[in-house]
Amino acid sequence: MGEHLGKPGAPRRETRKSKSRCQSVLASPLRENAVIRRCDNSDFELIYEIINDAARTYEGTIPPDRWKEPYMSREELHHEIEEGVVFFGYEEAGELVGVMGIQHIQDVTLIRHAYVRTIRQNQGIGSQLLFYLRAQTTRPVLIGTWADAARSIHFYERHGFRLLPQEEKDRLLRKYWSIPARQIETSIVLADQKWLNARKVHRTGPRDDQEA
Ligand SMILES: CC(C)(COP(=O)(O)OP(=O)(O)OC[C@H]1O[C@@H](n2cnc3c(N)ncnc32)[C@H](O)[C@@H]1OP(=O)(O)O)[C@@H](O)C(=O)NCCC(=O)NCCS
Repeated sequence: MGEHLGKPGAPRRETRKSKSRCQSVLASPLRENAVIRRCDNSDFELIYEIINDAARTYEGTIPPDRWKEPYMSREELHHEIEEGVVFFGYEEAGELVGVMGIQHIQDVTLIRHAYVRTIRQNQGIGSQLLFYLRAQTTRPVLIGTWADAARSIHFYERHGFRLLPQEEKDRLLRKYWSIPARQIETSIVLADQKWLNARKVHRTGPRDDQEA
């Protein structure tokens, strides 16, 4: 059921030195016993468990009125899947250790709910998942996260995403996400190069009032 990422042609691993120079990372080849696969209904409980384990990092970081336990209820997770979030999982030796969702909406793709089990964080798993999901789309990719989640913002910036200005992120959160006003206020949006390029073309193109 899993889809293996082949070693041939896989992007080369970058060293710490080159990472800091170019401020972005490429995924290294998957470990021998690892696989990235699309999750199905039978993974629901594991996805729920991984999200709520990894989300503990938010406690004391995000605004207290946004934190709850569990961080994401089963009902919320069901809702997200019904709304079109498709989860992919990183499985090692038959055990799911990280999940990341992808949602194609209107003209963009959103990366949603990226979580790696706490004890497996910082081992390249999130990078592998992000690399894999980005290859699933040709649309611009947007990511929303908490404004206070500095480590996760750093993670996405290292992968080439850039923070959008407040006015734009508010507009995008209203357009592409279904989240309450308070979450819009306390969130940021990061965009990939494709989005930034399209925005540049749009801005230097005809003014809105001159368009047909
Ligand atoms: C963000 C996350 C998915 C990244 O996965 P990962 O497997 O830990 O990441 P990798 O090992 O590929 O990359 C390491 C980078 O992740 C980031 N990171 C590590 N632990 C993190 C944590 N607890 N929370 C957020 N980011 C973290 C760091 O920026 C690190 O970069 P550095 O090496 O320059 O310090 C994972 O750490 C996680 O589940 N964090 C908690 C939940 C979260 O913040 N999710 C993002 C919401 S959209």
